[in-house]
Amino acid sequence: MSGPTTSPHPTPTPVHPAWLPDATIAPLGTGHALLLTARDETAADPVLATVETELRRAARAHGGRLSTRTDGEPGPDVRLVLATTAVHPQPLPGDAAATEHAWHALVRRVLADPGTLPPESFRLVRDAGVTVVAASSGTGLLHGLHHVARDAAARPGRAAEDTAVTDEVRSPAQAVRMLDHWDNVDVHDVMGQVERGYAGGSLFFADGALRDDLGRAEEYARLLGSIGINRVGLNNVNVHAREARLLTEGLPDVVRLAAVFRPHGIRVHLSVSFAAPMTVGGLPTADPLDPGVQRWWADVTAHVYRAVPDFGGYVVKADSEGQPGPFAYGRDHADGANLLARALAPFGGTVFWRAFVYDHHQDWRDRSTDRARAAHDHFAPLDGRFDENVVLQVKHGPLDFQTREAVSPVIAAMPRTRLAVELQVTQEYTGQQRHACYLAPWWREILDLRPWGEGPTVADVAIGDGPGGRPGALVAVSNVGDDPFWTGHPLAQANLYAFGRLAWDPTLAPEAVLDEWVGLTFGADPDVRAGVHAILDDSWRTYESYTAPLGVGFMVTPGSHYGPSVDGYEYSPWGTYHFADRDGIGVDRTRATGTGYTGQYPAPWRDVYEDLATCPDELLLFFHHVPWGHVLHSGSTVVQHVYDTHFAGVERVEEMVGTWAALAGRVPEDVHARVSERLDEQLRSAREWRDQLTTYVFRKCGVPDARGRRIY
Ligand code: GCU
Repeated sequence: MSGPTTSPHPTPTPVHPAWLPDATIAPLGTGHALLLTARDETAADPVLATVETELRRAARAHGGRLSTRTDGEPGPDVRLVLATTAVHPQPLPGDAAATEHAWHALVRRVLADPGTLPPESFRLVRDAGVTVVAASSGTGLLHGLHHVARDAAARPGRAAEDTAVTDEVRSPAQAVRMLDHWDNVDVHDVMGQVERGYAGGSLFFADGALRDDLGRAEEYARLLGSIGINRVGLNNVNVHAREARLLTEGLPDVVRLAAVFRPHGIRVHLSVSFAAPMTVGGLPTADPLDPGVQRWWADVTAHVYRAVPDFGGYVVKADSEGQPGPFAYGRDHADGANLLARALAPFGGTVFWRAFVYDHHQDWRDRSTDRARAAHDHFAPLDGRFDENVVLQVKHGPLDFQTREAVSPVIAAMPRTRLAVELQVTQEYTGQQRHACYLAPWWREILDLRPWGEGPTVADVAIGDGPGGRPGALVAVSNVGDDPFWTGHPLAQANLYAFGRLAWDPTLAPEAVLDEWVGLTFGADPDVRAGVHAILDDSWRTYESYTAPLGVGFMVTPGSHYGPSVDGYEYSPWGTYHFADRDGIGVDRTRATGTGYTGQYPAPWRDVYEDLATCPDELLLFFHHVPWGHVLHSGSTVVQHVYDTHFAGVERVEEMVGTWAALAGRVPEDVHARVSERLDEQLRSAREWRDQLTTYVFRKCGVPDARGRRIY
């Protein structure tokens, strides 16, 4: 490969506008908006141009008007003012002061003493029907603009007349809000171009090259900027030969993609291969302690920063599922991560080093090895050894993005390390965007958990309010592709939206976030709002109810991870077993009789999970092997629970189908058709899950369903 690569691959049209149809970006309808910036600011801050474009787009859609600094004196009817704090409006001279417009006085008041606003924050002041957003950067203004738009959509018809007085500063809770793409330049085997992608091909690459037309990518960047995402990992963590060279020959592609994201306040990252000094650089080793290797990374990184001065840094999956890493040289992961951190440090870059390290060649007969233990076993002893620009990226659970699993014990174990919590927006194990499964309630449970029983939450640890006080990140794997609806299942857009919103503010209620999304996407129709809530609010629990029970996980078709295969992984090397036999089911992870995994948690969880009397039902089989007749806290036995939840889950999907059918004519026809088609598949698949699970359990234990329903 040499020089920038382009492809004439056609961009599919028409593209769904997601949560930014022109109708929703005009918080003031036909009103008059004013954008105030200092003279030399716009050249230095490309996000200001985005703010202006958004306002013009809104004005065009609604017959409103936008004025900027150079447009002369606006009249009295200005309703929205966006101003940077570099602007210092002067009082009007003499007589004019007496007739000064209300908006002008308000802007002067706000900007006379704007306070110290970090770059991504904004101050919002509302008084006498005028809204002023002030920020120290274009990014802050962009966040402020979308805040006002969201607010207007949440209160249809009321925002314009709003006379309530407000004066508040809004800032993101979490400084780093990142989406990782698992996109490949080339198409790889059965997984397609985007690993675990369920929405078509990559938005960035097609036909083995960067797309010539990056229009879709630009629209995507706009969507992400509107929900506050500020980092994007461009390529798959499994780095193949071609993608490894994005660092070198492919760098012009990275330059173009960085230019796509930059105007939306987003910095780009690359996933790199730990073996790159050999495979790309031709060195005989990739040993992190080898001076030649250190020089190679320093040189390559300097080269990247010359081309992309605001480059975010690297993402690394090392010694994991076949990816190369420091173990090959007898080094540990601190040696490996610090190698890259030191190359990035002179430029302010960060390495996101993934903790997803485990033995994927396990012998299923070996009961002493427990995959859930692996990340803690490998990383907890390294606490304190990572450089300050290393962020250890930890999957939220110890296994692998299951529908339900315990929170990873690593999150409580490394106070002297910056930690990122990694979520999965792409629905690998949660229905692959063929099933409606709104994940925000699950993410809220994860983020709200208090790893020490009291005190900081998981979200606090990521924010930097944990015991070590080190700021980390919230990261998720993206769910978009070149599908016209972005996410395959149009309702899966809600997950992308919710991730951005929860990364900004992890205390938001999932239902409120969904409400925003429905309002922005579908408008104010109360029946649509109610219908979408009815379908999505509990959809994660519904999905859980007809799939693997009580936290035991997996039971999915090997490879694809879609649909039921109860014993699919039972005798495999991947370390994901349920151990069902005629007497019982579940994984004994106790200290007393099992793998000792519960001992990786601090109190109280180590004891809560250890004891059958306190272990929560929904995680029972994750922590314990119990007889089929074991009585849950709910009062049901394990076997009867499997029967009841699986029948009930299918019934709920049947209701979802009916609810959506009733919305025909109330939402765009193409959206209706696509969701209907997905719901039909969800229903088929849910029945398959139900029938396989209930039949399997019945055949294992012979206990009939107390309610006599049909089991095969
Ligand atoms: C899962 C997933 C892989 C992915 C891996 C990861 O195992 O199935 O496709 O590469 O997670 O997060 O690295």
